[in-house]
Amino acid sequence: MARKPIIAGNWKMNNTASEGVELVKALKPLVADAKCDVVVCVPAIDIPAVKKAVYGSKIKLGAQNVHFAEKGAYTGEISANMLKEYGVQYVIIGHSERRQYFGETDETVNKRTLAALAAGLTPIVCIGESLEEREGGLTEKVLDKQIAEGFKGIEDFSKLVIAYEPIWAIGTGKTATAAQANETIGYIRKRVKKLYPHKNAGRLRIQYGGSMNAGNAKELMAQPEIDGGLIGGASLKPNDFAAIVHFDK
Ligand code: PGA
Repeated sequence: MARKPIIAGNWKMNNTASEGVELVKALKPLVADAKCDVVVCVPAIDIPAVKKAVYGSKIKLGAQNVHFAEKGAYTGEISANMLKEYGVQYVIIGHSERRQYFGETDETVNKRTLAALAAGLTPIVCIGESLEEREGGLTEKVLDKQIAEGFKGIEDFSKLVIAYEPIWAIGTGKTATAAQANETIGYIRKRVKKLYPHKNAGRLRIQYGGSMNAGNAKELMAQPEIDGGLIGGASLKPNDFAAIVHFDK
């Protein structure tokens, strides 16, 4: 079965709720005839307003993180059920910025992913290597560890999305070449199939992320292994994001 492409925006810590609503208002008509899944992953406090703004459109709502406990004494955190109640369908987990600045590890990524799945959310789990790791020939080794430890206990890979984001390409304007991205995503798919052979791994969708934009989306999306994009900077501009969503035009 063909894997449906998925283009997701990661607003990061941008847009107040009212700015987010304006962005979605501008985006809605531009993506009304989208053939792929379209998602915006917004700051948690924007969720109630953006939920209303996306209503009746193609755009699905995502969050940028989720805690792994059902509830309890975790000041400042947000549970999967809290997101779910607000109509959130997707959640980014283990973004490299969270790994770098907020102590996220493969173990916490794994716990968050399992909690999100249990609540019926679709995790978008980020993996990827740093520049030193790529230049040192360690890319596969780093990905192997992230895949082995981050995805333990997952029963059905059709229910999550992986975003392959080489850290050196995020927000730098330096995109992996289409061939590089395709090759590495192909490797990730092979590895997941090998480690988790009977878990629907063939239906796993894998996105590329890292300076994907209106100019390079078409070429990246034409690669057979690339099922979508996780878009930072360009998702803040409705026209640019819409152009990526229409990569097939
Ligand atoms: P970028 O961010 O598109 O701005 O490089 C991608 C991401 O961090 O998800």
